[in-house]
Amino acid sequence: MAARVAFFLGVALVFGNIFANSDGELPVEFGYSGRLGPENWGRLSPLFRNCSEGKSQSPVNIVTDEAVPNKNLKPLRRFYSAGANATLVDGGPYIEVKFESNSGWLIVEGKNYTLEQMHWHSPSEHTIDGKRYPVELHLVHKTSEGDITVIGILFRYGGEDPILKKLQKSLKRLAEEGAGDEKAQVPLGVIDTKHLRRKTRKYYRYVGSLTTPPCWENVIWNILHKVRKISKEQVAALKAPLERDFWKNSRPIQPLNGRKIELYRELN
Ligand SMILES: *[C@@H]1O[C@H](CO)[C@@H](O)[C@H](O)[C@H]1NC(C)=O
Ligand SMILES: *[C@@H]1O[C@H](CO)[C@@H](O)[C@H](O)[C@H]1NC(C)=O
Ligand SMILES: *[C@@H]1O[C@H](CO)[C@@H](O)[C@H](O)[C@H]1NC(C)=O
Repeated sequence: MAARVAFFLGVALVFGNIFANSDGELPVEFGYSGRLGPENWGRLSPLFRNCSEGKSQSPVNIVTDEAVPNKNLKPLRRFYSAGANATLVDGGPYIEVKFESNSGWLIVEGKNYTLEQMHWHSPSEHTIDGKRYPVELHLVHKTSEGDITVIGILFRYGGEDPILKKLQKSLKRLAEEGAGDEKAQVPLGVIDTKHLRRKTRKYYRYVGSLTTPPCWENVIWNILHKVRKISKEQVAALKAPLERDFWKNSRPIQPLNGRKIELYRELN
């Protein structure tokens, strides 16, 4: 069955501000298979044209041997508040944690970005040397002008992820109370951002797009080299609140079209 969830652009959290003037009544459905699947996204709405016509789309496969070391890249120092008020949301295609405005910031290429939300895709969207991981976490940051930079963290099966461990009860509540109800919410109160701020010694940088419609370009991607661990139960808990059609919610790999992937490596 094709995904039939109405996706309201006006309230989509990633682009909330940009569409603030629209009255939120712009339902455009998309999914991950069949008629609404990724190969058709560009045809579902004129607003989604970048999904098929864009030349700098995401995700991509990172070929580690071809990543170009760039000494001018800066450490990805995350100045997140120690505790940030947040809400767990069924964001439609994925589970999302929405942060309040004082969540903290990150400087990338001289611009000051605010941490806005984080969400999970399963399996991973980016691949490394062709390898796809079970989960990818996206930390989405935005400037007041609407520029976006995302930190992508890949997960392999293993022990529990400490971030999701803290969300365990809330995820269960979201699945029970919000079953099938897109935009269902569970307030989280103040959450500890320690595990989101962990130091990064190596990351990959390239310019791409949102991996969901409208597939806007000029998103600065930072994919961490270090792969973290997540348990099978946690992956199941991330899927439970979602409509079945979003249990697999990753977009296929997009062509690089000549783009270079750069490598940051901490010098000892
Ligand atoms: C979180 O929200 C509560 C209730 O709105 C507020 O009292 C508290 O000061 C906030 N804490 C932080 C760290 O923003
Ligand atoms: C980035 O913006 C935040 C406010 O959102 C501010 O507190 C912080 O000082 C800024 N950082 C820099 C380096 O300008
Ligand atoms: C495609 O992306 C570019 C760059 O982000 C943007 O200027 C343009 O408006 C987008 N086109 C559509 C149809 O959204």
